[in-house]
Amino acid sequence: MPDVDDVQDGKDYHIGVPMPSNAFFLKGSNSLDWGMKNRLARIFNPATGKTVMLAVDHGYFQGPTTGLERIDIAIVPLVPYADALMITRGALRTSIPAEMSKPVVLRSSGGQSILKELSNELVAVDVDDAVRLNASAMAVQVYVGGVHEHQSIGNLVKVVDAGTRNGIPTLAVTGVGKELARDAKYLGLATRICAEMGAHVVKTYYCEKGFARVAAACPVPLVIAGGKKLPELDALKMAYEAIDQGAAGVDMGRNIFQCDAPIAMIQAVRAVVHDQEKPDKAYELYQSLKRDAHAVPDRS
Ligand code: 5RP
Repeated sequence: MPDVDDVQDGKDYHIGVPMPSNAFFLKGSNSLDWGMKNRLARIFNPATGKTVMLAVDHGYFQGPTTGLERIDIAIVPLVPYADALMITRGALRTSIPAEMSKPVVLRSSGGQSILKELSNELVAVDVDDAVRLNASAMAVQVYVGGVHEHQSIGNLVKVVDAGTRNGIPTLAVTGVGKELARDAKYLGLATRICAEMGAHVVKTYYCEKGFARVAAACPVPLVIAGGKKLPELDALKMAYEAIDQGAAGVDMGRNIFQCDAPIAMIQAVRAVVHDQEKPDKAYELYQSLKRDAHAVPDRS
């Protein structure tokens, strides 16, 4: 029974001190409910407004691709350095310890493989399971201009609606087929459609010309994929340019986990994303961390 003895009158009302009414730190997110904002604030660091999301969901259509053969061995050691982990429910449940405290961005579309038409996806996770897995966001691929464009936009809409009922934001991933140009005109079209359909975060590719316009015209935070493996300095330059031109972070996979020294690389990417470190300096950091990691301990 609650104790009703010695109930004291309140004293510290701070009358005359207005309660702050601050804008939420992420663009386009101020009108969201508390649960959505709280989940987004787990994915994006409120101190910098940025995120380094580690994408390891490739197996959902590629199988055991290089670097992801054993998620329990190759990826678990990287998790402490990531702000969020983008992953399928199968990989999460089987290969990531539940003690991990990083926010999960749950891959929630799928249903095709590299052997078939990539845009032929469906919603592959029920929102109830996203709740059960304590997901901080759900991720859905959208193929603007693809064979199944309409269906993939429909998947996004379904996930946004289900997520909204449960306070879970949706990350729309702009999937590009071989036939689609990754230029500012196309990426601007795809990212804007995703945001207008209700995505809370949009993932896209960096393009050398006009990326600042793509980022400016997307009314929610934009994160970039790394794409195919590049030399480390080039990947760091790409991340730097994207952040400098308005991206709110990276959702990077192969350029981290296919690297010779993935732990060194993710720390170098963090320096670029969170500290606006110049690519050359971040590359020096990568090399020195890599040297330290490979140094043979002196046991004499
Ligand atoms: C699959 C994805 C991947 O997560 C994405 O492409 C990120 O990985 P990478 O940096 O390797 O491109 O969304 O469609």
